[in-house]
Amino acid sequence: MVESEKQQLAVKSQGGQFKFVEEAIPQPGPGQVLIRVHYSTINPFDRLCLMRERGNEGFIMGSEGSGVIQAVGEGIDSSQWVGKKVGFIGNGWARYVAKPLASLVVFKDDFDLKNGANSYINPFTVAGLLDYGLKHGAKAVIILAASSSLAKQLIRLAQLRGVITINIVRKDENVKELQETFGVEHALNQTSPTFYTDLEAVIAKTQPTVLYECVGGDLPGEVFSRMPAQSSMVVYGSLSSQTFTVKGVQFRWLDQSITGFVLHRWLAAISADERKQWFELVAKDLEEGGKIFGSKIIKVISLSDWEKNVAEAEAAATQGKYLINLLDA
Ligand SMILES: NC(=O)c1ccc[n+]([C@@H]2O[C@H](COP(=O)([O-])OP(=O)(O)OC[C@H]3O[C@@H](n4cnc5c(N)ncnc54)[C@H](OP(=O)(O)O)[C@@H]3O)[C@@H](O)[C@H]2O)c1
Repeated sequence: MVESEKQQLAVKSQGGQFKFVEEAIPQPGPGQVLIRVHYSTINPFDRLCLMRERGNEGFIMGSEGSGVIQAVGEGIDSSQWVGKKVGFIGNGWARYVAKPLASLVVFKDDFDLKNGANSYINPFTVAGLLDYGLKHGAKAVIILAASSSLAKQLIRLAQLRGVITINIVRKDENVKELQETFGVEHALNQTSPTFYTDLEAVIAKTQPTVLYECVGGDLPGEVFSRMPAQSSMVVYGSLSSQTFTVKGVQFRWLDQSITGFVLHRWLAAISADERKQWFELVAKDLEEGGKIFGSKIIKVISLSDWEKNVAEAEAAATQGKYLINLLDA
């Protein structure tokens, strides 16, 4: 048993709604470790869970987080692991979480865990999305909602791997930011009257073969219909919640394909070696300042204030992420 005068605190589904509860600290099972969570964050996936998992009795919110291993389950050497700093996926809106050791991103001892709160969802989604592009031979790709935190990491990783990005946003200030801060050559505003003409010119020049779609509505289908034969669209989000439409004729004649992407599925599908390489790449980048996978933190909140900050964090998403401090919870 873990000794602590404080108990577990968590945002948990009880009786059809999420509540801030105090209960017993979970215990790590075989192959698991118990993590004292230091920081978590608010992601679009959390907003989805708040709607979808309400009725899932016992579901603990928080798509990711960072903390320190405090105890280990059967089969794990405590002298090697207790005290290690880690990043994890799932149930981060809690003071304690038990996770399989094999699923953790491990950081150096001097790592600032604030920079590890976002070490999982967006970095590995970005890794999985680019992995798809690389394995399908893409030399150029199109990114919708390119102002998002995730898209900015995807742009950096693509630059590192020599893949050209064509970035589509909905505000001029985001075009400017991507050009000036991220050094992108192709950034287009989807609301511009010349958007589709400009896009056609860039497509003719760069020949992008993968479209990363997370918006919905008519935009993805319109962009896709202008892309080369045998291109693919990877659907990984639905920010507008609108059904996306695709022009059947072009889609058929151009022999295009549409596929869905979910992080958990990709992580389970790649080999242990590939997973290890991606984990090490993300940890190393975050330890060195997060040039690729770092997220900008714009506000620090406490767990008890989770409810009022969810909508506020969404409105401020382009500026950066909200960090939940669980050290003081
Ligand atoms: N499939 C997976 O496994 C997986 C994993 C992680 C994330 N995701 C998805 O990845 C996407 C981005 O995540 P994130 O954490 O980076 O999001 P985020 O930081 O919350 O940013 C979303 C950005 O998208 C822009 N946006 C919102 N609605 C839009 C719309 N209708 N059309 C165009 N742009 C819009 C907004 O920028 P402006 O207001 O400045 O335009 C906003 O800043 C989300 O859809 C999320 O669900 C999927």
